[in-house]
Amino acid sequence: MGKIKKIAINTGGGDAPGLNAVIRAVVVSAINRGMECVGIRDGYNGLLRPEEYPEGGLIPLNRRSVRGITHLGGTILGTTNKGNPTKYPTLGPDGKMYEKDRTDELMAAFKHNGIDALVALGGDGSLGIANVLSEKGLPTIGVPKTIDNDLDKTVVTFGFDTAVSFATECLDRLHSTADAHRRVMVVEVMGRYAGWIALNAGVSGNADAILIPEIPYDIGKVAAALKERPKRGKHYAIVVVAEGAMPKGGSVSVVGKELGRAEKLGGAGERVAKELEPLVGKECRTVVLGHLLRGGCPTTFDRLISLRFGAAAVRALEEGRTGVMVALDPPTVRYVPLKEATNRMKTVPPDCDTIVTARDLGISFGD
Ligand code: F6P
Repeated sequence: MGKIKKIAINTGGGDAPGLNAVIRAVVVSAINRGMECVGIRDGYNGLLRPEEYPEGGLIPLNRRSVRGITHLGGTILGTTNKGNPTKYPTLGPDGKMYEKDRTDELMAAFKHNGIDALVALGGDGSLGIANVLSEKGLPTIGVPKTIDNDLDKTVVTFGFDTAVSFATECLDRLHSTADAHRRVMVVEVMGRYAGWIALNAGVSGNADAILIPEIPYDIGKVAAALKERPKRGKHYAIVVVAEGAMPKGGSVSVVGKELGRAEKLGGAGERVAKELEPLVGKECRTVVLGHLLRGGCPTTFDRLISLRFGAAAVRALEEGRTGVMVALDPPTVRYVPLKEATNRMKTVPPDCDTIVTARDLGISFGD
């Protein structure tokens, strides 16, 4: 691999607090090594749809561009959930949309713009694309991003701590109103097919029941657990439901599917509230935290992890690595092959210590 002079950075998939901290760390670390940086707008669209960007699909990045962004949520580059270049939604001659592999065009665009390497920030989908580009010959380093924390081979992804912290704060707020009205508050949180956000926030926020995809629930058992509370003088309850939670023998609650995109989850909390109300004999209200969990300033933990990940990505390129993802393996950051990192989703082990702790605290999982 020749000396790397110009690095591109992009952000793909759902945004997460910490993205801008990673971008800043990549840019400053690279500049300190005499490299040049450009950002690709909106995933790969800045290169695949240049006509949509009168100001240019690439953003030159220097110290000034990234000054003071460490604590900002979102991404200064923009992102997309709809621009997978291996399955790019394309209008066919028959007027129908189909998925087209545009990775060869992308490789040509990197070459045309004098880009020697790529640092790709994203979740499993984005890191899978990064691996394809690396295999096609572009030095590429992945940085694991998702509030879901469902990426394998890294103890944690940035964005997760911020999402859990905010969800916990929301649960804290709901205890008083639930108590005041002797209600059951059902709180739906994001996380796709993993229950990490629901589990960690539910335990930290003193939920009475936590429903996660990894443990299909029996609504009768949830109701039975909640009905024990009045005997202890507690006439309200908090139930946390992961958006991917499902009843025993049932399926996830899906609200839609578009070409080139993952299915859209939704309605899991409302489904639980509707079924619980007659069983517990109390009013049930649903709160969907949704994209609130994606917003806001990253916590200190997420800022530090993001800065460490960004700097490690540049060091990896300098060391001639490609096709790897930076990963947190306390107390250090190491590199794991992208192929391994995207092989399987990291879901909650039903016997993990946090679940054992939750059960010790009397929290129901509906099983
Ligand atoms: O993967 C992150 C995530 O926030 C999931 O938890 C959620 O299901 C999904 O993105 C929502 O995607 P969108 O922002 O496209 O609605």
